[in-house]
Amino acid sequence: MAEMSSVFRLFVPMSTIVSPSILSANFSNLGKDVEMLHKSDCEWIHIDVMDGVFVPNISFGLPVIKSIRRHTDKPFDVHLMIQNPDDFLEDFKNAGADMLTVHLEACTHLHRTIAEIKKLGMKAGVALNPHTPVSSLEEIISDLDLVLIMSVNPGFGGQKFIPSAIDKVKKLKQLISEKGSNTLIEVDGGVNLETGKQLVEAGANALVAGSFVFGSENPATTISKLKSL
Ligand code: DX5
Ligand code: ZN
Repeated sequence: MAEMSSVFRLFVPMSTIVSPSILSANFSNLGKDVEMLHKSDCEWIHIDVMDGVFVPNISFGLPVIKSIRRHTDKPFDVHLMIQNPDDFLEDFKNAGADMLTVHLEACTHLHRTIAEIKKLGMKAGVALNPHTPVSSLEEIISDLDLVLIMSVNPGFGGQKFIPSAIDKVKKLKQLISEKGSNTLIEVDGGVNLETGKQLVEAGANALVAGSFVFGSENPATTISKLKSL
């Protein structure tokens, strides 16, 4: 498992952080794809957990995370698209998560959830669906290590980028600097070299990319290209 100190170092990004989403990997040979990511230039590995309730799809859960943990020590950036994440925070820590991102829309007591994630020794993130305004984070932004702006409606890989995400990144950057916080901005959904460039220019620190990476001829090269944005 990754040392927390190395995860922390990644929270002072020098270049764009790339977090490939294994939702688009080959599930029948996941270990091989994770090893490819391990050797690539990506900083994090994005892991999409879906429960079929919060989002209209089911992906994979704790045993899969646990079993790929042995293939890499890169930080696991776990995106929980589940209802009641509070019931499973410690389980995700034990499975090997380094960063845990919950959806604002799925948490009634978000402040408590974030405090609990940190208490367990993980970095804490909040994801916003496309309809959720950045202003809803005003009172909690200083407590967050990461905000994940969804640039598609969560549930599936390979969807079309929603352009209003660019404005949300700008607003979020403004909020972060007003509050003097060092929260990172990550964007997820429909990211490619074109949308990625616009997002980085708007202030994004980290890009999630699933189908663009795994659907390309050479995923490792695609990761390097995203990193250089
Ligand atoms: C969508 C997931 C994404 C997804 C992105 O619900 O949260 O992480 O894997 O896939 P692409 O990059 O193909 O849009
Ligand atoms: Zn995701």
